Amino acid sequence: MQRTDLFSTPLYTQDVEGADALNQLLRADIVEWESIDPDGMPRSNRSASWHSGVNAFERAAFVPLVKAVVEAATDVFCAEGYAGGSRVRLTEMWANVLRPGGFNAIHDHGGCLWSGVYYVAAPEGIGDLVLLDPRGNAPFLRRPSYGEARKMASRIAPLHNISCRPGRLVMFPSWIQHHVEPNESEEPRISVSFNIEQVSRRRPAEPTGVPAYVLVPEVLSRDDITCVYSQLGDSAWRAGRVGDGRPRPEIRNNDVFWADGSLGEPWHWLYAKLARQAELVNERVYKVDISGGGQTMQFARYKPGRKYGEHADADVDRGGPAARRTLSCVVVLRNAERGGATTFPRAGDSTPYQVAGDAIFFRADERHAALPVEAGVRDTLVVWFQRAGGD
Ligand SMILES: [Fe+2]
Ligand SMILES: [Fe+2]
Repeated sequence: MQRTDLFSTPLYTQDVEGADALNQLLRADIVEWESIDPDGMPRSNRSASWHSGVNAFERAAFVPLVKAVVEAATDVFCAEGYAGGSRVRLTEMWANVLRPGGFNAIHDHGGCLWSGVYYVAAPEGIGDLVLLDPRGNAPFLRRPSYGEARKMASRIAPLHNISCRPGRLVMFPSWIQHHVEPNESEEPRISVSFNIEQVSRRRPAEPTGVPAYVLVPEVLSRDDITCVYSQLGDSAWRAGRVGDGRPRPEIRNNDVFWADGSLGEPWHWLYAKLARQAELVNERVYKVDISGGGQTMQFARYKPGRKYGEHADADVDRGGPAARRTLSCVVVLRNAERGGATTFPRAGDSTPYQVAGDAIFFRADERHAALPVEAGVRDTLVVWFQRAGGD
Protein backbone atom coordinates (compact mmCIF):
# COMPACT_ATOMS: atom_id res chain seq x y z
CA MET A 1 0.00 0.00 0.00
CA GLN A 2 1.22 3.46 -0.75
CA ARG A 3 0.58 6.12 1.85
CA THR A 4 -0.52 9.61 0.80
CA ASP A 5 -0.69 12.36 3.39
CA LEU A 6 -3.71 14.53 2.75
CA PHE A 7 -4.33 18.07 3.96
CA SER A 8 -0.93 18.62 5.47
CA THR A 9 -0.14 22.04 6.99
CA PRO A 10 3.33 23.57 6.80
CA LEU A 11 5.10 24.99 9.84
CA TYR A 12 8.60 26.45 9.75
CA THR A 13 10.94 27.10 12.67
CA GLN A 14 14.45 28.47 12.83
CA ASP A 15 16.84 29.56 15.57
CA VAL A 16 18.13 32.97 14.58
CA GLU A 17 21.88 33.51 14.77
CA GLY A 18 23.18 36.19 17.14
CA ALA A 19 19.90 36.16 19.03
CA ASP A 20 21.41 37.12 22.41
CA ALA A 21 22.55 40.56 21.29
CA LEU A 22 19.42 41.06 19.18
CA ASN A 23 17.17 40.17 22.11
CA GLN A 24 18.91 42.60 24.46
CA LEU A 25 18.33 45.37 21.97
CA LEU A 26 14.70 44.40 21.37
CA ARG A 27 13.90 43.93 25.03
CA ALA A 28 15.15 47.40 25.97
CA ASP A 29 13.25 48.99 23.10
CA ILE A 30 10.01 47.12 23.85
CA VAL A 31 10.15 48.11 27.54
CA GLU A 32 10.61 51.75 26.54
CA TRP A 33 7.87 51.54 23.90
CA GLU A 34 5.40 50.17 26.43
CA SER A 35 6.29 52.92 28.90
CA ILE A 36 5.38 55.65 26.40
CA ASP A 37 2.33 53.88 24.98
CA PRO A 38 0.97 51.78 27.86
CA ASP A 39 -2.46 51.24 26.24
CA GLY A 40 -0.92 49.79 23.08
CA MET A 41 -3.36 48.13 20.71
CA PRO A 42 -5.23 45.31 22.49
CA ARG A 43 -6.13 42.40 20.21
CA SER A 44 -6.13 38.73 21.25
CA ASN A 45 -3.98 39.43 24.33
CA ARG A 46 -5.75 39.11 27.67
CA SER A 47 -5.14 39.76 31.35
CA ALA A 48 -1.68 41.06 32.32
CA SER A 49 -0.48 41.81 28.81
CA TRP A 50 0.57 44.49 26.33
CA HIS A 51 0.24 44.49 22.53
CA SER A 52 2.09 47.30 20.75
CA GLY A 53 1.05 49.15 17.62
CA VAL A 54 1.69 47.21 14.41
CA ASN A 55 4.47 49.43 13.05
CA ALA A 56 7.37 47.85 14.97
CA PHE A 57 9.31 47.56 11.69
CA GLU A 58 9.73 51.34 11.71
CA ARG A 59 11.75 51.27 14.94
CA ALA A 60 15.53 51.25 14.70
CA ALA A 61 15.95 48.44 17.24
CA PHE A 62 13.87 46.13 15.05
CA VAL A 63 15.99 46.52 11.90
CA PRO A 64 18.07 43.33 12.40
CA LEU A 65 14.94 41.33 13.21
CA VAL A 66 13.12 42.68 10.14
CA LYS A 67 16.07 41.55 8.03
CA ALA A 68 16.04 38.07 9.58
CA VAL A 69 12.27 37.74 9.13
CA VAL A 70 12.31 38.86 5.50
CA GLU A 71 15.16 36.41 4.73
CA ALA A 72 13.34 33.56 6.47
CA ALA A 73 10.06 34.41 4.75
CA THR A 74 11.82 34.51 1.39
CA ASP A 75 13.10 30.96 2.07
CA VAL A 76 9.57 29.88 2.99
CA PHE A 77 8.17 31.38 -0.22
CA CYS A 78 10.80 29.45 -2.24
CA ALA A 79 10.09 26.22 -0.39
CA GLU A 80 6.34 26.64 -0.83
CA GLY A 81 6.73 27.27 -4.56
CA TYR A 82 5.21 30.70 -4.84
CA ALA A 83 8.26 32.88 -5.00
CA GLY A 84 8.22 33.31 -8.80
CA GLY A 85 7.65 36.94 -9.79
CA SER A 86 6.92 37.95 -6.22
CA ARG A 87 8.72 39.18 -3.16
CA VAL A 88 7.99 39.24 0.55
CA ARG A 89 6.44 42.28 2.15
CA LEU A 90 6.28 42.63 5.90
CA THR A 91 2.93 44.37 6.41
CA GLU A 92 2.64 44.38 10.19
CA MET A 93 4.96 43.71 13.10
CA TRP A 94 4.17 44.15 16.78
CA ALA A 95 5.59 43.39 20.21
CA ASN A 96 3.78 41.26 22.81
CA VAL A 97 4.43 41.30 26.53
CA LEU A 98 2.63 38.67 28.60
CA ARG A 99 3.19 39.18 32.31
CA PRO A 100 2.39 36.40 34.82
CA GLY A 101 -1.20 35.34 34.07
CA GLY A 102 -1.26 37.00 30.63
CA PHE A 103 -2.31 34.94 27.61
CA ASN A 104 -3.66 35.20 24.06
CA ALA A 105 -7.16 33.97 23.23
CA ILE A 106 -7.77 31.79 20.14
CA HIS A 107 -7.39 33.82 16.95
CA ASP A 108 -6.01 33.76 13.43
CA HIS A 109 -4.39 36.46 11.33
CA GLY A 110 -7.05 36.67 8.62
CA GLY A 111 -6.42 38.84 5.60
CA CYS A 112 -2.75 38.01 5.10
CA LEU A 113 -0.72 35.13 3.78
CA TRP A 114 1.90 34.06 6.35
CA SER A 115 2.35 34.99 9.98
CA GLY A 116 4.92 34.27 12.57
CA VAL A 117 6.47 35.03 15.89
CA TYR A 118 9.96 35.55 17.26
CA TYR A 119 10.81 35.02 20.93
CA VAL A 120 12.74 37.69 22.82
CA ALA A 121 12.30 36.53 26.41
CA ALA A 122 11.03 33.09 27.29
CA PRO A 123 11.66 32.16 30.93
CA GLU A 124 10.83 28.69 32.30
CA GLY A 125 7.12 28.11 32.79
CA ILE A 126 5.82 30.57 30.26
CA GLY A 127 2.99 29.34 28.10
CA ASP A 128 3.42 27.52 24.79
CA LEU A 129 2.17 28.73 21.45
CA VAL A 130 -0.61 26.29 20.58
CA LEU A 131 -1.64 25.73 16.95
CA LEU A 132 -5.05 24.14 16.45
CA ASP A 133 -5.57 21.31 13.96
CA PRO A 134 -7.50 22.79 11.01
CA ARG A 135 -9.36 19.47 10.66
CA GLY A 136 -11.01 20.07 14.01
CA ASN A 137 -11.78 17.15 16.29
CA ALA A 138 -12.63 14.63 13.59
CA PRO A 139 -9.34 12.66 13.55
CA PHE A 140 -9.33 12.34 17.34
CA LEU A 141 -12.87 11.27 18.11
CA ARG A 142 -11.95 7.63 17.49
CA ARG A 143 -8.35 6.84 18.39
CA PRO A 144 -6.52 3.50 18.35
CA SER A 145 -6.74 1.63 21.64
CA TYR A 146 -3.53 -0.41 21.22
CA GLY A 147 -0.05 0.10 19.83
CA GLU A 148 2.42 2.96 19.89
CA ALA A 149 0.20 5.30 17.93
CA ARG A 150 -2.21 5.70 20.82
CA LYS A 151 0.54 7.48 22.81
CA MET A 152 1.69 9.81 20.05
CA ALA A 153 0.94 13.41 20.85
CA SER A 154 -0.11 14.04 17.27
CA ARG A 155 -2.85 11.40 17.67
CA ILE A 156 -4.12 12.50 21.05
CA ALA A 157 -5.29 16.10 20.68
CA PRO A 158 -6.19 18.40 17.81
CA LEU A 159 -3.40 20.80 18.62
CA HIS A 160 0.34 21.25 18.32
CA ASN A 161 2.37 22.95 21.06
CA ILE A 162 5.45 24.97 20.29
CA SER A 163 7.59 25.78 23.28
CA CYS A 164 9.14 29.20 23.13
CA ARG A 165 12.87 29.64 23.18
CA PRO A 166 14.67 32.98 22.97
CA GLY A 167 15.87 33.48 19.41
CA ARG A 168 13.36 31.05 17.87
CA LEU A 169 11.46 32.16 14.80
CA VAL A 170 8.24 30.35 13.90
CA MET A 171 6.23 30.84 10.70
CA PHE A 172 2.83 29.41 9.77
CA PRO A 173 0.04 30.16 7.27
CA SER A 174 -2.01 33.07 8.62
CA TRP A 175 -5.28 31.13 8.62
CA ILE A 176 -4.17 28.65 11.30
CA GLN A 177 -6.01 29.29 14.53
CA HIS A 178 -3.77 29.53 17.56
CA HIS A 179 -3.55 30.76 21.10
CA VAL A 180 -0.91 31.33 23.77
CA GLU A 181 -1.16 29.59 27.12
CA PRO A 182 -1.13 31.71 30.30
CA ASN A 183 2.30 32.74 31.51
CA GLU A 184 2.79 30.73 34.71
CA SER A 185 6.29 32.01 35.38
CA GLU A 186 7.27 35.03 37.44
CA GLU A 187 8.84 36.79 34.46
CA PRO A 188 7.39 38.54 31.41
CA ARG A 189 7.17 36.60 28.18
CA ILE A 190 8.24 38.89 25.33
CA SER A 191 7.72 38.11 21.68
CA VAL A 192 7.39 39.88 18.35
CA SER A 193 4.68 38.80 15.91
CA PHE A 194 4.37 39.70 12.26
CA ASN A 195 2.29 39.33 9.12
CA ILE A 196 3.71 38.72 5.65
CA GLU A 197 2.18 39.43 2.26
CA GLN A 198 3.26 38.47 -1.25
CA VAL A 199 3.67 41.37 -3.67
CA SER A 200 4.69 41.56 -7.28
CA ARG A 201 8.39 41.94 -7.95
CA ARG A 202 7.55 44.03 -10.98
CA ARG A 203 7.27 47.59 -9.91
CA PRO A 204 5.75 50.06 -12.30
CA ALA A 205 8.26 52.58 -13.61
CA GLU A 206 8.39 55.44 -11.15
CA PRO A 207 8.62 59.05 -12.15
CA THR A 208 12.14 60.41 -12.23
CA GLY A 209 13.55 63.89 -12.55
CA VAL A 210 10.70 65.49 -10.57
CA PRO A 211 10.33 65.79 -6.80
CA ALA A 212 8.38 62.97 -5.15
CA TYR A 213 6.03 65.57 -3.65
CA VAL A 214 5.46 69.29 -3.37
CA LEU A 215 4.31 70.70 -0.02
CA VAL A 216 2.12 73.80 -0.19
CA PRO A 217 1.47 75.29 3.25
CA GLU A 218 -1.84 76.84 4.30
CA VAL A 219 -3.92 75.97 1.28
CA LEU A 220 -6.90 75.98 3.64
CA SER A 221 -7.35 78.51 6.43
CA ARG A 222 -8.63 77.77 9.92
CA ASP A 223 -12.07 79.09 8.88
CA ASP A 224 -12.07 76.89 5.78
CA ILE A 225 -11.43 73.83 7.94
CA THR A 226 -14.18 74.77 10.42
CA CYS A 227 -16.53 75.12 7.46
CA VAL A 228 -15.52 71.67 6.10
CA TYR A 229 -16.33 69.96 9.42
CA SER A 230 -19.66 71.73 9.79
CA GLN A 231 -20.63 70.66 6.25
CA LEU A 232 -19.49 67.07 6.86
CA GLY A 233 -21.40 66.36 10.07
CA ASP A 234 -20.63 63.31 12.19
CA SER A 235 -22.41 60.57 10.26
CA ALA A 236 -20.41 60.81 7.06
CA TRP A 237 -17.70 58.23 7.73
CA ARG A 238 -17.90 54.62 6.73
CA ALA A 239 -15.42 51.72 6.43
CA GLY A 240 -12.59 52.36 3.97
CA ARG A 241 -12.46 50.49 0.69
CA VAL A 242 -9.53 49.79 -1.62
CA GLY A 243 -9.64 49.52 -5.37
CA ASP A 244 -12.11 46.83 -6.28
CA GLY A 245 -14.44 47.68 -3.42
CA ARG A 246 -13.52 44.81 -1.11
CA PRO A 247 -12.42 45.94 2.35
CA ARG A 248 -8.76 45.00 2.74
CA PRO A 249 -7.76 46.17 6.21
CA GLU A 250 -4.20 44.87 5.81
CA ILE A 251 -3.64 47.48 3.08
CA ARG A 252 -5.94 50.21 4.15
CA ASN A 253 -8.06 50.49 7.24
CA ASN A 254 -9.10 54.11 7.35
CA ASP A 255 -12.67 55.42 7.17
CA VAL A 256 -13.60 57.33 4.04
CA PHE A 257 -16.40 59.59 2.94
CA TRP A 258 -16.87 60.47 -0.69
CA ALA A 259 -18.05 64.05 -1.04
CA ASP A 260 -20.73 63.20 -3.58
CA GLY A 261 -21.21 65.97 -6.05
CA SER A 262 -17.99 67.48 -4.76
CA LEU A 263 -17.41 69.49 -7.88
CA GLY A 264 -20.74 71.27 -7.46
CA GLU A 265 -22.53 72.55 -4.37
CA PRO A 266 -22.03 72.33 -1.46
CA TRP A 267 -18.38 71.54 -1.98
CA HIS A 268 -17.45 73.65 -4.98
CA TRP A 269 -15.75 76.37 -2.94
CA LEU A 270 -13.36 73.78 -1.50
CA TYR A 271 -12.70 72.07 -4.81
CA ALA A 272 -12.01 75.41 -6.50
CA LYS A 273 -9.30 76.27 -3.95
CA LEU A 274 -7.53 72.96 -4.44
CA ALA A 275 -7.89 72.99 -8.22
CA ARG A 276 -6.26 76.42 -8.37
CA GLN A 277 -3.29 75.17 -6.34
CA ALA A 278 -3.08 72.00 -8.42
CA GLU A 279 -2.81 74.05 -11.58
CA LEU A 280 -0.04 76.22 -10.13
CA VAL A 281 2.00 73.24 -8.90
CA ASN A 282 1.44 71.34 -12.11
CA GLU A 283 2.47 74.24 -14.32
CA ARG A 284 5.63 74.78 -12.31
CA VAL A 285 6.69 71.20 -11.51
CA TYR A 286 4.89 68.17 -12.84
CA LYS A 287 3.47 69.25 -16.20
CA VAL A 288 1.11 66.26 -16.40
CA ASP A 289 -2.26 66.29 -18.17
CA ILE A 290 -4.91 67.45 -15.70
CA SER A 291 -7.24 68.79 -18.33
CA GLY A 292 -9.96 66.42 -17.12
CA GLY A 293 -10.21 68.31 -13.81
CA GLY A 294 -10.73 66.71 -10.41
CA GLN A 295 -12.50 63.49 -9.50
CA THR A 296 -14.91 63.17 -6.57
CA MET A 297 -13.18 64.36 -3.41
CA GLN A 298 -12.61 61.87 -0.63
CA PHE A 299 -12.32 62.48 3.09
CA ALA A 300 -10.31 59.90 5.02
CA ARG A 301 -10.08 59.42 8.77
CA TYR A 302 -7.22 57.50 10.39
CA LYS A 303 -7.72 56.45 14.01
CA PRO A 304 -4.86 55.06 16.15
CA GLY A 305 -3.28 52.06 14.42
CA ARG A 306 -4.91 52.97 11.12
CA LYS A 307 -2.77 53.33 8.02
CA TYR A 308 -2.67 52.97 4.26
CA GLY A 309 0.05 50.68 2.90
CA GLU A 310 2.33 51.55 0.00
CA HIS A 311 0.47 52.12 -3.26
CA ALA A 312 0.14 54.44 -6.24
CA ASP A 313 -3.17 56.25 -6.81
CA ALA A 314 -3.10 55.78 -10.60
CA ASP A 315 -4.16 52.20 -11.21
CA VAL A 316 -3.69 51.40 -14.88
CA ASP A 317 -4.70 47.76 -14.44
CA ARG A 318 -8.21 48.64 -13.36
CA GLY A 319 -9.07 51.06 -16.13
CA GLY A 320 -11.85 53.55 -15.48
CA PRO A 321 -11.34 56.69 -13.42
CA ALA A 322 -8.44 55.23 -11.38
CA ALA A 323 -6.40 54.78 -14.56
CA ARG A 324 -6.94 58.40 -15.58
CA ARG A 325 -5.52 59.92 -12.39
CA THR A 326 -2.40 61.97 -13.07
CA LEU A 327 -1.95 64.26 -10.06
CA SER A 328 -2.84 63.61 -6.41
CA CYS A 329 -3.52 66.09 -3.66
CA VAL A 330 -3.70 65.29 0.07
CA VAL A 331 -4.76 68.06 2.45
CA VAL A 332 -4.52 67.54 6.20
CA LEU A 333 -7.67 68.70 8.01
CA ARG A 334 -6.65 67.50 11.45
CA ASN A 335 -3.22 66.21 12.39
CA ALA A 336 -2.65 63.17 14.60
CA GLU A 337 -0.77 63.76 17.81
CA ARG A 338 1.76 61.15 16.71
CA GLY A 339 2.30 59.20 13.48
CA GLY A 340 0.12 59.21 10.37
CA ALA A 341 2.40 61.05 7.95
CA THR A 342 2.34 60.38 4.21
CA THR A 343 5.69 58.93 3.16
CA PHE A 344 7.30 58.46 -0.24
CA PRO A 345 9.85 55.64 -0.78
CA ARG A 346 11.51 57.71 -3.50
CA ALA A 347 12.00 60.60 -1.07
CA GLY A 348 13.73 58.40 1.53
CA ASP A 349 13.62 59.97 4.97
CA SER A 350 12.33 63.27 3.69
CA THR A 351 8.73 62.86 4.86
CA PRO A 352 6.51 65.93 4.40
CA TYR A 353 5.47 67.44 7.70
CA GLN A 354 1.94 68.75 7.24
CA VAL A 355 -0.10 70.72 9.73
CA ALA A 356 -3.84 71.28 9.33
CA GLY A 357 -4.47 73.24 6.14
CA ASP A 358 -1.25 72.16 4.37
CA ALA A 359 -1.48 70.27 1.08
CA ILE A 360 0.92 67.94 -0.68
CA PHE A 361 0.78 67.32 -4.40
CA PHE A 362 2.43 64.40 -6.15
CA ARG A 363 2.19 62.48 -9.39
CA ALA A 364 -0.57 59.87 -9.22
CA ASP A 365 1.93 57.17 -10.24
CA GLU A 366 4.24 58.07 -7.34
CA ARG A 367 4.31 55.32 -4.69
CA HIS A 368 3.42 56.47 -1.20
CA ALA A 369 1.94 55.24 2.08
CA ALA A 370 0.20 56.65 5.14
CA LEU A 371 2.09 55.59 8.27
CA PRO A 372 -0.03 54.23 11.14
CA VAL A 373 -1.44 56.83 13.47
CA GLU A 374 0.07 56.28 16.92
CA ALA A 375 -2.03 58.73 18.92
CA GLY A 376 -4.92 61.03 18.12
CA VAL A 377 -6.88 61.12 14.86
CA ARG A 378 -5.75 62.25 11.43
CA ASP A 379 -8.32 63.52 8.92
CA THR A 380 -7.35 64.17 5.31
CA LEU A 381 -9.01 65.32 2.15
CA VAL A 382 -7.87 63.66 -1.05
CA VAL A 383 -8.45 64.87 -4.60
CA TRP A 384 -7.22 63.20 -7.77
CA PHE A 385 -6.83 65.30 -10.88
CA GLN A 386 -7.12 63.46 -14.17
CA ARG A 387 -6.40 63.56 -17.85
CA ALA A 388 -9.32 64.21 -20.13
CA GLY A 389 -11.33 61.48 -21.80
CA GLY A 390 -13.73 58.90 -20.44
CA ASP A 391 -14.07 55.20 -20.99
FE1 LIG B 1 -1.32 35.32 16.61
FE1 LIG C 1 -2.90 57.38 -2.02
